[in-house]
Amino acid sequence: MCGIVGGLAASDVSSVMIEGLRRLEYRGYDSCGVAFFFDGGLRRTRSTARVADLEEQVKAFGLGGRVGIAHTRWATHGAPTTANAHPHFSRDRIALVHNGIIENYAELREELLSRGYVFSSQTDTEVLAHLIDSLYEGDLLPAVQGAVSRLTGAFAIAVICRDEPQRMVGAREGSPLVVGLGKDGNFLASDAMALAGTTNRIIYLDDGDVVDVRLDAVRVYDVDGVEAHREIRVVPDYTVAVELGPYRHYMQKEIFEQPRALADTLQGIEEFTPRLFGADAQGVFEQVDAILILACGTSYYAGLIARYWIESKVGIPVSVEIASEYLYRDSVPNERTLVVTITQSGETADTLSALRHARSQGMRRTLTICNVATSAMVRECALAYITRAGHEIAVASTKAFTTQLVGLFLLTMVFARLKGRLGAAQEAEYLRLLRHLPAAVSSVLALEPQIIAWADVFARYDNALFLGRGMHYPVALEGALKLKEVSYIHAEAYPAGELKHGPLALVTEQMPVITIAPKDDLLEKLKSNMAEVRSRGGQLYVFADSNSHIASEPGIHVIRLPENYGVLSPILHVIPLQLLAYHTALARGTDADKPRNLAKSVTVE
Ligand code: M6R
Repeated sequence: MCGIVGGLAASDVSSVMIEGLRRLEYRGYDSCGVAFFFDGGLRRTRSTARVADLEEQVKAFGLGGRVGIAHTRWATHGAPTTANAHPHFSRDRIALVHNGIIENYAELREELLSRGYVFSSQTDTEVLAHLIDSLYEGDLLPAVQGAVSRLTGAFAIAVICRDEPQRMVGAREGSPLVVGLGKDGNFLASDAMALAGTTNRIIYLDDGDVVDVRLDAVRVYDVDGVEAHREIRVVPDYTVAVELGPYRHYMQKEIFEQPRALADTLQGIEEFTPRLFGADAQGVFEQVDAILILACGTSYYAGLIARYWIESKVGIPVSVEIASEYLYRDSVPNERTLVVTITQSGETADTLSALRHARSQGMRRTLTICNVATSAMVRECALAYITRAGHEIAVASTKAFTTQLVGLFLLTMVFARLKGRLGAAQEAEYLRLLRHLPAAVSSVLALEPQIIAWADVFARYDNALFLGRGMHYPVALEGALKLKEVSYIHAEAYPAGELKHGPLALVTEQMPVITIAPKDDLLEKLKSNMAEVRSRGGQLYVFADSNSHIASEPGIHVIRLPENYGVLSPILHVIPLQLLAYHTALARGTDADKPRNLAKSVTVE
């Protein structure tokens, strides 16, 4: 999604701007731009191509300066054209970049039109540039404060002004914005990673903050305009995350990082204690009689798997809701519910809004399972479990999903123990299974050559069905999502028992049917569903395990996972589906890391 970089330094900031945008490219964008205070005025250049093209333009025009703002745009209001790309100007005096959506832009636009402002784009952002200009009386800070107080929606902005070239002002509400404190300059960015290599001393702004950035001072003002203290944090070195090493894509790298990510996530876990979820977790968990899981996309599918685990091992009701649907539905709140958000980024707007909605309904016991310790979600939830997947760059989530599942399984076990449903011997056995998980995942990754052979066949199909039963149905959903995201093959997942209620009509020889078939209580039922497919000519591609006893034969292709992993089997069975999606994308020539139209972190509703 959109990205912001801004800088104010003692020397030219153009290379920091371009490098920052490059580091944000993974989030997905369709145009980009940069503006500087240059030669006594504001100058900009914009592109609907990649950041590399923007860099060429900056060089060709000899642009640069000691103050600059830059942006990658993921279109919401207005097509991805040069005119709609940021930075937006007002009267050549104000330049602004913006992430998020200004919901009341239409009425503000009418007002500004009546005051003589001329619009050159279809964006909501240009409204804000003109609004700031209309309030400007020689001091940028109050102009920005006044303008943002009139906005509804989510935003993060960086603003510079022709008449105050030693200053940059930022503000945020609902979209992330950080300040980077450097040796020779100060910076703004929508993600600390954009400033890697420039500074690792970061201030995470709170919602409602406005920041006044100068060369020798950074002042933060809260929503009431009162100067506020915000902690300076030293963030990890992101350099390792952005190195591809021997891999062709981040998606492949991140799939293969899973043994390490799982080992890191499980490090130091000796027992299923509530303390894993925070010092106050025991007191909170003891008062809970239901769980509500809120999430989007892949994280939602992790939640669906957790429902099977928690309801069977703990015996308390779990509902799992797509965050954007829960938000606008009349639901029945229960104050004794633990609200669990699952999110890789911790910044997904739908999930954050759903959390706030649940809290506004009186459900104040909140926990997040999140991969980013500094994210808004972690700050807003009472309890947190931080997965240690490491930075996930590819748009398609892989290692975040399997580490989320570990976090959710730990939650299941902690509740089971609290409810007296987990004996010491069972606890020891589950801990043993978890410790062996990284090795088990490695042995599944070793199946890659067989999966590549399947991917070459899949690349020729336009459609695919994924089937699973029980807790492997969400695995099928995740496999279908991965395939459509990166290869653009239309893929759908069904609980296998549902096939005969409609989707069977789609099955012909042209329909590959991927089936998740480990040995479990539902395997015999699943085999009947597979027979229904075969007798209609469908081609079955089956991921079985060592105990499934399904043999390859004409029309039935089988890859066997080396181990049966019982209740944790979803963690292993999703790995070949990730590899299948990745290699099918390679075979079809799509960009596995940056699928069209998608963004890594979805910070707009
Ligand atoms: O950061 P989050 O986990 O909250 O993101 C949720 C979804 O946007 C995300 O899982 C998305 O579905 C991925 N592209 C899936 O690969």
